[in-house]
Amino acid sequence: MPATSVIGLQWGDEAKGKFVDVLTDQHDVVCRYLGGNNAGHTVVFDGKTFKLSLLPAGVLHPGKTAVIATGVVLDPAALLNEMDRAEQSMGGPVPPEGTELLISDRAHLIFPWHLAEDAALETDRGDAGQQKIGTTLRGIGPCYRDKAGRTHAVRAGDLLRPDRFRRRVAEVCAFKNRLLGAMTASAGKGDFEPFDADEIADRYLGFAERLGPYLTDTTAYLLNAVDSGKSILFEAAQGSMLDIDHGTFPYVTSSNSSGCGVHPGSGVPERHLDTMLGVVKAYSTRVGGGPFVTELEDETGDRIRTRGNEFGTVTGRPRRCGWFDAVAARYAARLSGVDALAVSLLDVLDGFEEVKICEAYELNGQRTTDFPSHADDLAEATPVYRTLPGWSEDTTGCRTYADLPANARTYLETVAEVLGTELKYVGVGPDRAQTIRV
Ligand code: IMP
Repeated sequence: MPATSVIGLQWGDEAKGKFVDVLTDQHDVVCRYLGGNNAGHTVVFDGKTFKLSLLPAGVLHPGKTAVIATGVVLDPAALLNEMDRAEQSMGGPVPPEGTELLISDRAHLIFPWHLAEDAALETDRGDAGQQKIGTTLRGIGPCYRDKAGRTHAVRAGDLLRPDRFRRRVAEVCAFKNRLLGAMTASAGKGDFEPFDADEIADRYLGFAERLGPYLTDTTAYLLNAVDSGKSILFEAAQGSMLDIDHGTFPYVTSSNSSGCGVHPGSGVPERHLDTMLGVVKAYSTRVGGGPFVTELEDETGDRIRTRGNEFGTVTGRPRRCGWFDAVAARYAARLSGVDALAVSLLDVLDGFEEVKICEAYELNGQRTTDFPSHADDLAEATPVYRTLPGWSEDTTGCRTYADLPANARTYLETVAEVLGTELKYVGVGPDRAQTIRV
């Protein structure tokens, strides 16, 4: 059973969706297993642009099964909006005829109070003079917090039991109104408008009329799929450096966004995976707060941002840009057990006279290739660069590895060597056709 996992090795936005889209044809099932509508990727094919957030790329391919598995936190309003938008772009129903969409009944639901908590906690951090995490304000962290805390969590399967759901929403809503009311009052932030439990329960049960048919036990489905020899493509969200346990804490998301998250998020043991494809951009970007060793706050950074259109798909925020951080990416590749590499957005580096790879950090007077476990140390680290010659040619029209300029190939091979992985794909533009198989 060829199961493949596609993982971002940086801080998200590595263009994983593009490689997932390309690999989808080779798999029966495409599974998204973590995060929520904080993620966003753009898939371009047949001249149409699809902005996906929660929907796995497989949902655009007739005959596939697209799974939103247990580790995802689900904002049903956001999912339905996304399905409506995809239908408009597709010019037909999503999922299309012959395509199956399955959503885990164990996935946790995001409610309006999670968005309010996300905003209040970020503001509080700012008011206290701390650097904000810079979340997407989609309620992701507060929903995962409730999941871990258990006492005030509601799962998608509860939507199928309307009486229980109403009771549960009333209990949780009462508590959240007390909590948010007290937070607002103590921060002197004016009046808090309490949430109306009945209105929310009605609205969510309305969503359930559309989503109900897709809700199921996806863990059982995926394990049966494994047993019956179906091939599964696991589509990660965010990037390894945003992993809650192994990333640049606290400037991370609230789930295991490295390769470590496949098993808990989907229920499918990692021994079933035969390829762990790590995806990196040809340079580094990060949105939100937190240390970023190779950040370029200069003309070069601006040039990368403009050429790479480095503005968030979800929030539109400008992304922080810098040279390729091989110390971070190598750590992520080892952590995730990556055995194949895809480098995206190579074309963004076209026309640079020279290109740089950060191959070590200088920290406390010592040179190291180990990634620091504490954000304070990371903030102190300075990059040690290997400088390579750039290339003046436009790579966007290259369709084979041999078409690429020699200096671009040397750059790619250096990245793969430093990461200790085999280079499999190179992206030279947003279209499906602009993916080179090495
Ligand atoms: P949250 O996931 O909204 O809680 O945000 C936590 C951190 O992860 C913030 O720095 C976000 O900018 C970042 N983040 C979350 N999702 C993505 C993503 O899909 N791409 C890049 N960064 C993300």
